Amino acid sequence: MNPLALTCPTVRRIGILTSGGDCPGLNAVIRAVARDAFHCNIKVIGIEDGYLGLIENRLREITEADMAGLLLRGGTILGSNNKTNPSKHKVGTDSDNKPIYKDVMPDCLRNLERAGIEALITIGGDGTQTGATEFARKGVPVIGVPKTIDNDIEGTDITFGFQTAVATATDALDKVRTTADSHHRAMVVEVMGRNAGWIALHAGVASGSDIILLPELPFDMTRVFACVKERSDRGKRSSLICVSEGAKVKGHGQFIARRVETSPDPIRLGGIAKYLADQIEDETGTESRYTILGHTQRGGTPIPSDRVLATLLGSHAMTLLRQGKAGRMVAIQGGHLTDVDLSFAAGKQRLVKEDDPLILAARNLGTIFGDE
Ligand code: F6P
Repeated sequence: MNPLALTCPTVRRIGILTSGGDCPGLNAVIRAVARDAFHCNIKVIGIEDGYLGLIENRLREITEADMAGLLLRGGTILGSNNKTNPSKHKVGTDSDNKPIYKDVMPDCLRNLERAGIEALITIGGDGTQTGATEFARKGVPVIGVPKTIDNDIEGTDITFGFQTAVATATDALDKVRTTADSHHRAMVVEVMGRNAGWIALHAGVASGSDIILLPELPFDMTRVFACVKERSDRGKRSSLICVSEGAKVKGHGQFIARRVETSPDPIRLGGIAKYLADQIEDETGTESRYTILGHTQRGGTPIPSDRVLATLLGSHAMTLLRQGKAGRMVAIQGGHLTDVDLSFAAGKQRLVKEDDPLILAARNLGTIFGDE
């Protein structure tokens, strides 16, 4: 007899969804959850496109056949959606073309019941876990698994997807440095991260960027100009600037690329790299170019450490369900696998602290953050 079966609870059918912006490692979590469940003869029902699939009743059973090659695959076989909130779902527009919203939680609960789903695993960021707490409040046993390249979920020290995004950004920064050196240029590379500077900080340090600009440390343009000028006066062939899409020039605020009104978080950041490159060229005379990495950071195969993290978190989610726990989010704290109350992550952001050891180390090495 399978030893796991001894500790399996009465749950015989679980639902799983991936919601919010995708990231490398989502499929690795789905695989961990499904393989673990198969051992206990628990059926796994995949919900397509996050909460939207639950509203529209688009469900399908995940089988052994879905497991082939899943660990390495980018994206999510279930699809995702970062515009749906079951408590406030757009159902049409009024005569003034204004959106009409409806609470469709009752439809979701009905669809869960019809499919015989007894517990839910929600893989997603703060928005997803906010939605998950609503289901938990309605009595659905939910376990959350934190994901995002932004690494900004409260309650866990790290999210899967982040390290792959850092690897992608570092690779791009390394490549940009070589061409910058050839042409005596200042190169600005804009990375994602929303209001958190984790990707910029880690990729900036890993690539030896000369200037790192984070949303958490509003910066002065004059400090950036001085650094580029001083480097060029010292005979340095290039200046490499890693800027987070959410970085703030003092007195200017963030650069907004677009608004997605149907999204729970409508602001999409972006555009600061062009502003920086133009200003640097005008003020210092150093030829400047910019690159926006965008969604390359969200795509592709997860690096090994993200596959490992995704597997650990997915498996822990199943362990909690087997123990009969609910309303929890699996997490890593101080290097240990643990779990926290779901509400911990809901609607919060874990930002980089001013005294983060990596900021202090980079400052000691002469990296400029522009806030000095
Ligand atoms: O939260 C993940 C993320 O990639 C952010 O880093 C970025 O600001 C945002 O999502 C982009 O969203 P979208 O895919 O809707 O453009």
